[in-house]
Amino acid sequence: MERCARLARHTEEPGRITRTFLSAPMRDVHRDVAEWMREANLDVRIDDVGNVVGRRESANPGAKTFVIGSHLDTVPNAGAYDGILGVVAAIEAAAALADEALPFHLVVVGFSEEEGVRFGTPFIGSRAFAGAFDDAMLGLKDSDGMTLADAIRSFGLDPGNIAEAALPEEGILGFLEIHIEQGPVLERRNVPVAVVDRISGQTRLQCDLAGETRHAGTTPMNARRDALAGAAEVVLAVERLGRSGSADVMTVGQLKVRPNVSNCIPGSVELSVDIRHADEDTRRSAEAGVMREAERIAADRGLAFRMADRRDTPCVVCDAGLSDALAASVQAVTGEPAFHHDSGAGHDAMIMARAVGTAMLFVRCRDGISHHPDESVAAEDVAVAVGVAVDCLRRIGGERA
Ligand code: GLV
Ligand code: MN
Ligand code: MN
Repeated sequence: MERCARLARHTEEPGRITRTFLSAPMRDVHRDVAEWMREANLDVRIDDVGNVVGRRESANPGAKTFVIGSHLDTVPNAGAYDGILGVVAAIEAAAALADEALPFHLVVVGFSEEEGVRFGTPFIGSRAFAGAFDDAMLGLKDSDGMTLADAIRSFGLDPGNIAEAALPEEGILGFLEIHIEQGPVLERRNVPVAVVDRISGQTRLQCDLAGETRHAGTTPMNARRDALAGAAEVVLAVERLGRSGSADVMTVGQLKVRPNVSNCIPGSVELSVDIRHADEDTRRSAEAGVMREAERIAADRGLAFRMADRRDTPCVVCDAGLSDALAASVQAVTGEPAFHHDSGAGHDAMIMARAVGTAMLFVRCRDGISHHPDESVAAEDVAVAVGVAVDCLRRIGGERA
């Protein structure tokens, strides 16, 4: 808990927790996390996409690798636990096992980026780690116009070496991520943790609506091509589609209005659309519905609509064997059968699951509040999660042995 509080002080904005991909405070996070990893008897390296990777070699000949971790970045004005708790808990589990001979190499990872805030694209760290980084992403720009490649360079890392961040293709036993989620459900059930069965797929669209910037005082109402008015209609259409059950949840979370001054008609708007559902066909048809509505609204208003970027992260089913081991550990630690639940949020586990068998453990958070400074977890629940991780690593070790 103290470590989560300490990392919360490394922020881009005084008084708020904001830590986007490779922002200046990420150096302080790297320093602290690396120090705690070393204390847990792990060798530490920072890879060229900014992941912090701690590793303990097994003496076992032919040993494979087990990976446990989560992410280091936050949304703006975040809480202290989304992502960070999973990194700190993983280090704690490694520390608990520091003096035990494990039949696998143990890797603890803090991914540099999961939230998709700075470059509009999530999972930059875990994509590189899972060998799924697309070099075309290096040209993505942040709101200051800096490319992803330049952000990596200006942090002192080398975008030419990202391929080396990838784990070797063979020999990975699995990945475990601990993360806060589903607070109200777990509170109702009165359970501290849950084993995750599936993680919903997500679509993230970046769209442009283009109209015409004109003088707000002199352009008659019927001679306008107001991109913001069009975007407002798109926002309401997305909400209507979401409410009518097109997908689990659909959100327009970001608008960039140009020129964004009070006496000009907005000439262009960029907007994001975020769509989540565990069923892939449902998610795709929700996306098609959004596109149809946006095109109709643009045509009615004489605007040009364009989808500028599309990121698709398919639904993930967690690894059955690993999840069984995790459930057995929950039972062993809590004395109760494991409660299972699906995830609605995006997690690095989605990317890792494409490369290796993956399991996830949710930790109850108060009222389910997340992406907000009021995020809160109970120390006793965190202790259960760490205990479950330690038991699970021993269990997997026993199976390997
Ligand atoms: C990350 O928290 C996401 O679900 O987008
Ligand atoms: Mn997260
Ligand atoms: Mn998050």
